[in-house]
Order: sequence, then C-alpha cells, then structure tokens
Amino acid sequence: MKTDKSDILYMLRDAKDYVSGQQLCERLGVSRTAVWKVINQLKAEGYQIESVTNKGYRLTESPDILSKSEISSRLKTEWAGRELYYFDETGSTNIDAKHYAEDGSKHGTVVVADMQTSGRGRRGRMWQSPSGSAIYMTIALKPDFLPEKASMLTLVMALSVAKAVSDITGIKAGIKWPNDITLNGKKICGILTEMDAEQDYIRHVVIGVGINVNNASPEEFPEEIRQKATSLKIESGRQYNRAELIGSALFNFEKNYDTFVRKLDLSELMEAYDEYLLNINASVRVLDPKGEFDGVAKGINEYGELIVEKEDGRTVLVYAGEVSVRGLYGYV
Ligand code: BTN
Repeated sequence: MKTDKSDILYMLRDAKDYVSGQQLCERLGVSRTAVWKVINQLKAEGYQIESVTNKGYRLTESPDILSKSEISSRLKTEWAGRELYYFDETGSTNIDAKHYAEDGSKHGTVVVADMQTSGRGRRGRMWQSPSGSAIYMTIALKPDFLPEKASMLTLVMALSVAKAVSDITGIKAGIKWPNDITLNGKKICGILTEMDAEQDYIRHVVIGVGINVNNASPEEFPEEIRQKATSLKIESGRQYNRAELIGSALFNFEKNYDTFVRKLDLSELMEAYDEYLLNINASVRVLDPKGEFDGVAKGINEYGELIVEKEDGRTVLVYAGEVSVRGLYGYV
C-alpha cells in the first residue's frame, strides 16, 4: 500500500508534539520503513521534522509550498475538496473545474494551481496569476436547486473567505458587495462564479477564488490595479501558508453551503455577511446601466440583494448582475 504523505502530515500537525513511528505505522497500517521514507521525502521538500529516539517525529515548520499532500493534510471537510486536483501551472482553474465536472467529478471537487496562464476575472477581464505567492482555486458544485439561486453562492463564498482571512491574519477583512474581499480597504480577493445550466436544472456551478497572499510589494500587481490591490503579507508584514488558508476557506464554505441549502436563501447567513460588509451604513453610488443613483447601503436581504436607501427616502434592492456599487470616496 502506498503511504499517503498527507496522512502523515495530518497526524504530525494534529499531534502538535512527538508522534512515535509506532503510532504512525499502526494508524496507517504500513511498515516503519514506509513511514521513514515518507518522512525523508517531506524533509527534502522543506518540512522541518525533528526525529528523536524513543519519542518519534515532530513537525516544527511547514514551508509555504502548494502540493496535493499539503492541501489535503489541511482539509477538515466532509465533501469540499475531497476530490482534489493540484497543478504547478494551468490555464485557468475555473476551466479545469468545468472539465472535471463535465467528466463526472464529485460535488465539491476542488482544483488548485500555483500559477495560471489565462486567469479569468469578472466582466471578461484577465486575472494576473504569477506563481509562488497567491491562491488560485475553484470548487465545482452539482447543486440540486434552480439556476436562479446560484448567484447567491458567490456571496456564500465571499463570507467564507472573509472569515478565513480574518481568522488567519487577525485583521478583520471586509466584503465589498457582492464579492470582493478587502484588507484595510484594498482588494485581496476576487471571486468568479460560472454556471452550466438548463432553464430549470443546474449541470454544475464553478466558483473560482483568487487570493493575494504572500505578494511582497504593490509593484507585483499590474499597474492598473496597483492603487486598489494588496495582499495579506503587505497588510500584515507576515508570510502565510497558502494551504492552511485554502483549508480554512473550504471548511467555512462547506458549513455555510450546507446552511444555505437548508432554506435556499441567505436568511441564516446574512447577519454574518453584514458583519463583514464594508458598505454598511455608508454612502454608495449604484452604477446601474439604467441610471446611476446615490444612497446609503443598509445590508443585504435573504436573496443577497443590497438594500440601499435613496436620498428621497425610498428603499431600492440592488441585484448584483450588471450593477456595481462604489463608495463615494474611492474603491470601497
Ligand atoms: C474578479 O474579477 O474579481 C474575479 C477574479 C477570480 C480569479 C480566480 S483565480 C482562480 C479562478 N480561476 C480563474 O481563471 N479565475 C478565478
């Protein structure tokens, strides 16, 4: 039997202290030599593992490398990411995820890449995707509900990533409605949801997430977004393990998705979402193709629409679609 690196990594990380060779062998049903081989492979990949006679092994440091074993060892989910594909380089994880979904992959299949050569943003834009510093991941879902409900999934993901980023950095992230995530008012994450559906039937939905994690300076971003983009590292001065952030975002997403599916709306999530909503009680300009207007954002409703109180006192529900919302004083 092949010993899975991710099982050993998971056990070492879970134990936080020494784990004996014996324990590893028994739990995984493999020989000591097999365990020893995997430990050596992990060391060669940059994991710092102490081996002490009579005590066993202890993981003292994990490098920020993305690999299938590193990501799987960080998963605490039931179904999200349990079918997992990792690429050092790919065109776009959204496209890969669509192909896997078409080929019969499981609900919750995840594709992660260290680099994308044709990363896609919303509204037909490009998403620059250099290697070594960011997260590019897509989850493919096969929901059993009507296509009209699917746009809410983007907000479910935004909430999940905002919480993961806040927990890991200790800095409260913000959501710029409907789905950009910010730290200190600058964008760190974008989400692109794409669906393949008939009128009353969803074949699959893919939700792609790009997070700027360890980008060291604003110069690493394309000139046109430099003013409004940032990374976890730039904002906090610290380096993060990307696989840990992926694990945390997927854990939150799975929980929030299951909550969403119970009512098929955001009624049980909107309070949590509004806690991250940057625009709440702030003046916004709604760029509606049918006519711009200003107002004060009051939060989202159970369908994920932004409730905006206009200057004349009337309340308008803004549906994401083609409309975008700007703060009156800059990006947020
Ligand atoms: C945006 O424009 O804000 C959305 C950007 C979404 C980028 C992510 S990176 C992973 C996934 N694959 C893609 O090609 N795009 C999404």
